[in-house]
Amino acid sequence: MHSGDRTAILGVTGFVGRGLPALLAAQGLSVTGVSRAGTGAMPGIARWQSPAALDFSGHRAVINLAGESVAQRWGAPARRRLHASRVGLTEAVVEAIRRLPAAARPAVLVNASAVGYYGDGGESFLTESAAPGSGYLADLCRAWEAAAVEAEALGVRVVRLRLGVVLGRGGLAFERLRRVFRCGLGGRLGSGRQWMAWIHLDDVRAALVHAVVSASLQGAVNGTAPSPERNAEFTRMLAAALHRPALLPVPACALKLALGGFGAALMDSQRAVPEALVEDGFHFKFPDLDGALADLVAPSGR
Ligand SMILES: NC(=O)c1ccc[n+]([C@@H]2O[C@H](COP(=O)([O-])OP(=O)(O)OC[C@H]3O[C@@H](n4cnc5c(N)ncnc54)[C@H](OP(=O)(O)O)[C@@H]3O)[C@@H](O)[C@H]2O)c1
Repeated sequence: MHSGDRTAILGVTGFVGRGLPALLAAQGLSVTGVSRAGTGAMPGIARWQSPAALDFSGHRAVINLAGESVAQRWGAPARRRLHASRVGLTEAVVEAIRRLPAAARPAVLVNASAVGYYGDGGESFLTESAAPGSGYLADLCRAWEAAAVEAEALGVRVVRLRLGVVLGRGGLAFERLRRVFRCGLGGRLGSGRQWMAWIHLDDVRAALVHAVVSASLQGAVNGTAPSPERNAEFTRMLAAALHRPALLPVPACALKLALGGFGAALMDSQRAVPEALVEDGFHFKFPDLDGALADLVAPSGR
């Protein structure tokens, strides 16, 4: 079905993507970086191409991690960028696959998505078969996934990896939280009862490589640790790991005022569980939040 041993990665310059070339090299796969910047001296990248001129000939796999950050106010211009960088770019990926003769197409497309797909799931456990939710992020994720699924008709195995909050050094979520707690200003968000789906950066990257090499994994896949936590418990554990107090709660209305729709989305409850990954034999290095946080705050950590 496929030719070559290359993996093309859109978003390889990003927080999650930049650690992938080394992991793929260990599987004997070389990497083509796809970036708007077009070049760069990232270790482990054999070639570069532009997202405006995608060519996947000779590629066994495509990983698409591109996307404008959702951590901003969603005014009309931001919504256009959020949509174009996810739905638009995924459509371009599928078109580039369609242009190739069937025998030369990549075997697999691993496309990022997010647990925002589920909207506010309340107390329910959210496996991959849970219905999509409502709201701006849910609609965006649904359109993003629908664009990726089009590649299935081209004979490509498609994995839609619904990521939770990725916790890693250098990542927006963890570094912002760490800064706030270090100033002694950390506190739960709103009631703190909402469930947070999280995953350690090492496990996301390992799951992406697993998705490339495991032919039995396909469809929607929750990229979340097996143990989601309520926001209040997450806050308490982070404060303990940083030896700082968890103080005043941040009121929901203040978050909405400061961050608009994104602030409101921080109140959504997503008790997502990684059924598909676990059934496919994936082992989490950091299944529990205390272990993940201990790793991230350790002085010797990465
Ligand atoms: N990190 C998380 O907690 C989290 C949670 C849920 C879902 N996700 C999803 O997982 C994917 C990877 O996350 P990440 O944290 O690694 O993302 P990131 O670092 O914020 O961005 C990944 C890449 O997206 C490209 N990009 C950014 N803005 C763009 C735009 N306006 N148009 C086209 N490309 C643009 C950039 O590539 P170039 O500049 O090289 O072109 C960037 O390196 C994203 O799609 C994100 O939505 C992440």
